[in-house]
Amino acid sequence: MTEHPAATAPGAFDAARSGEIVAASLAGTADPRLRELLTSLVRHTHAFVKEVGLTPEEWAAGVDFLTRTGQKCDAVRQEFVLLSDVLGVSMLVDTLAHPADGAYTESTVEGPFHLVASPPRALGDTIDEAARGGDPCLVTGRVTDGDGRPVAGARIDVWQADADGFYDVQRPGEVPERNLRGLFTADGDGRFRFRSVVPRYYPVPTDGPVGGLLAATGRHPYRAAHLHVEVSAPGVVTLTTHLFVAGSPHLDSDAVFGVKESLVREFAEVDDAERAAEHGLPNPFRHVDFPVTVRREG
Ligand code: BEZ
Ligand code: FE
Repeated sequence: MTEHPAATAPGAFDAARSGEIVAASLAGTADPRLRELLTSLVRHTHAFVKEVGLTPEEWAAGVDFLTRTGQKCDAVRQEFVLLSDVLGVSMLVDTLAHPADGAYTESTVEGPFHLVASPPRALGDTIDEAARGGDPCLVTGRVTDGDGRPVAGARIDVWQADADGFYDVQRPGEVPERNLRGLFTADGDGRFRFRSVVPRYYPVPTDGPVGGLLAATGRHPYRAAHLHVEVSAPGVVTLTTHLFVAGSPHLDSDAVFGVKESLVREFAEVDDAERAAEHGLPNPFRHVDFPVTVRREG
């Protein structure tokens, strides 16, 4: 029996070989990395469609979901990043780029609330300008490199939710702008300290398609309580990480899979009137120490 010529023509569509056929069409992509990424994406997408037997209705629903995800994005809202976050892709990309080796402080996702620049503050200052309650705390730390040498003058950028679980940008007019944000410069020994309030756990934004995805999958939207920390210095690889509050709800089910055990710390109660007065805090207060080890470039 002779085969129909169309069945063997290189460009003819064939469901069984669809991934290969479309991948071959990308062979002329000049940038080799772009060619690799697109080829693999096409192969995996075609394999997915075949594995689940995707129907036209399901395909249209998927396109509609992605369309609404894009439509939800604006200058301060990035629904696609949120989608990547709740699917664990952001954490995977970050962790592959910064593998844990025990020698350096581990990284985690940056999140969308760093869009507002942190105000420079002096060591020991409070970042809690609103002072609307919660547990006062002292955060101390020291930035060192892989050889244990201090990174003098390192910049420590911090931002966090308040004791009710809200960032300043979620309470415009209610709290001072840039409340619970601060940019500190470590001293000559790499040390830093500031005052704050223990942050509360909070939900990621749920008023968009990603919220719908979480609801449809029976997942809660909460992030375990954390303080964002970004450490940078000339000649040092910038570290973007969190300090998680030990005992917080959702440490084992963080909505964006951001928790790494090494980043969970006790915010221990200190009952010491003299130390409290020394730091300008009420007694008792909570204290967390966060030694940070960063990688020198090269
Ligand atoms: C955050 O920690 O600020 C965050 C991270 C990912 C998604 C939403 C919020
Ligand atoms: Fe956060």
